[in-house]
Amino acid sequence: MTDPVTDPVNDDDTAQSAPDSVPDSAQWRNFYGRRHGKTLRQSQKGYLEDLDHLRPRGIWPSENPERAPLDLAALFGATKNGDRPVWLEIGFGGGEHMVHMAARYPEIGMIGCEPYVNGVAMLLGKIRAAGVTNLAVHPGDVRELFDVLPAESLSRAFLNYPDPWPKKRHHRRRFVTQDHLQPLARAMRPGAEFRVVSDIADYMRQTFEEVPQAGFDLVCEGPEPWEDWLSTRYEQKALREGRPPHYATFRRQG
Ligand SMILES: C[S@@+](CC[C@H](N)C(=O)[O-])C[C@H]1O[C@@H](n2cnc3c(N)ncnc32)[C@H](O)[C@@H]1O
Repeated sequence: MTDPVTDPVNDDDTAQSAPDSVPDSAQWRNFYGRRHGKTLRQSQKGYLEDLDHLRPRGIWPSENPERAPLDLAALFGATKNGDRPVWLEIGFGGGEHMVHMAARYPEIGMIGCEPYVNGVAMLLGKIRAAGVTNLAVHPGDVRELFDVLPAESLSRAFLNYPDPWPKKRHHRRRFVTQDHLQPLARAMRPGAEFRVVSDIADYMRQTFEEVPQAGFDLVCEGPEPWEDWLSTRYEQKALREGRPPHYATFRRQG
């Protein structure tokens, strides 16, 4: 059994919390979070149809067994100033922050990864409502994306309220471990910004320990959010329950 993973979009406990495996043969990895929650409403099932044009091809190993790098310029198109800067959100939950950023910065291309299908459906509903087009969605594990991202291709990355994995023996499952951070660092441009926010003090302790080891410098940290931050439902819940957020900004060395 694993710990239940705090669910960003559902407060019910009907979701499965047992380990699930990536249903793909070439790059099998354990994923310890949940992939399904409540049965989707009919409208949410409709939103999932939008994945067909929002999902980059070649991230699932079955579609790209050679793991050829993605063509990000082709994915997002160019602006009059050249290729779009590409930003990544890791585990976007219900997608509110991701849609907010895409709307606020129309000149960038935003790619988000989230294996939790109910979260993906929520994001797709928000994309329809906001009418933003500079987004791509991988409905799966970010590690599958890391395999195929060209080196130094990301200009910014967001890790908002990653799964806390509170038990000590599960700390190695946290995103802020070298297994995750080194592939992220490889994909980030020198000088690119990496933002992390968590409401768990021990998670931030591990963040300050591990992220610099992967080649990032700490720029600033504290209780004040970024000027362009949008508070997520997960954050609102943490605040209601008396867990204040801690924000940190790192910069890729080089
Ligand atoms: C606590 S929730 C926070 C969601 C959202 N970022 C927010 O602030 O509301 C953490 C999310 O990370 C996702 N996640 C966990 N491991 C992941 C992975 N390897 N790749 C992508 N997403 C992942 C989970 O499915 C979950 O939705």
